[in-house]
Amino acid sequence: MTTNMQTGFIGAGNMAQAIIGGLIRTGTPAEKISIFEPNTELADKLASSLGVRAESTNTAIFENCDVIVLAVKPQIMKVALESAKGARLKKDAFIVSVAAGVPISLMQDWLGNNHPMVRVMPNTPALVGAGVSGLFASKQASVEQKQAAESILRAVGSVIWVDREDLIDSVTAVSGSGPAYFFYFIEALQHAALQEGLSLEHARLLSLETAFGAAKLALESSAEASTLRERVTSPGGTTAAALEVFEKQGVSDSIARAVSAAATRARELGKR
Ligand SMILES: NC(=O)c1ccc[n+]([C@@H]2O[C@H](COP(=O)([O-])OP(=O)(O)OC[C@H]3O[C@@H](n4cnc5c(N)ncnc54)[C@H](OP(=O)(O)O)[C@@H]3O)[C@@H](O)[C@H]2O)c1
Repeated sequence: MTTNMQTGFIGAGNMAQAIIGGLIRTGTPAEKISIFEPNTELADKLASSLGVRAESTNTAIFENCDVIVLAVKPQIMKVALESAKGARLKKDAFIVSVAAGVPISLMQDWLGNNHPMVRVMPNTPALVGAGVSGLFASKQASVEQKQAAESILRAVGSVIWVDREDLIDSVTAVSGSGPAYFFYFIEALQHAALQEGLSLEHARLLSLETAFGAAKLALESSAEASTLRERVTSPGGTTAAALEVFEKQGVSDSIARAVSAAATRARELGKR
């Protein structure tokens, strides 16, 4: 990101702090980051510990920043934007929203202007710099603005662009909710390890390191996940015995149905 851009955050909770941490780690000077956070204790703490600038009004963020990152809960978004209605943004300023399920058209209505916007669906591994985000830009956003939005999210992980806003609901269903699917699998594997007689400590380490190692191997390999799976599955062996149970139980179909249910729910929430 161009380090002379002033990036302002409306709301400085978990997701904002993850992104701010990533920006500072990747070379954005702290004084180029502003926050508006009504929890003044939190705002003061972030200002003194990170060196970011805490503003006392959200209008100060909208009017003085080049990029405005909306990081409030979806149910707060209407109030947060309507209270800044009519704010005069700087020339070429644009807005990035990380809020789940709030469409761009609604946010533009609440703010009372068709400002360029980029809608983002990040995920919680952003908290440790290993997130993945799906991005969609409104038609008003320029190439430079899209690049700047992308570099903000790259500070906390990987990014992909989608070319239709409704695909953000699909991203939500795959990677937004996705960490919970993997936690579910890890929990189940831990539980099975305990039933096999392993200690809790060993069950935890074996399941977590296996999840981490498998993801790292798949990310660093040019082979597809299916090929990597076949490589650990000798005919008649232990892995084959386990995978046969998955197949018989329709685990793959269950995952497809679960993702579809999450996408449907994301669409319903977006319509409210
Ligand atoms: N956390 C995630 O993993 C994740 C993943 C994907 C997307 N997101 C999106 O990220 C957004 C933020 O989530 P979060 O987990 O970071 O929430 P959070 O920790 O609750 O942070 C939101 C912050 O906004 C503050 N706030 C409340 N009203 C405000 C207002 N009118 N103006 C400015 N700030 C205000 C809150 O202060 P108070 O606490 O005092 O109310 C809080 O500090 C959400 O829209 C969510 O959908 C989060």
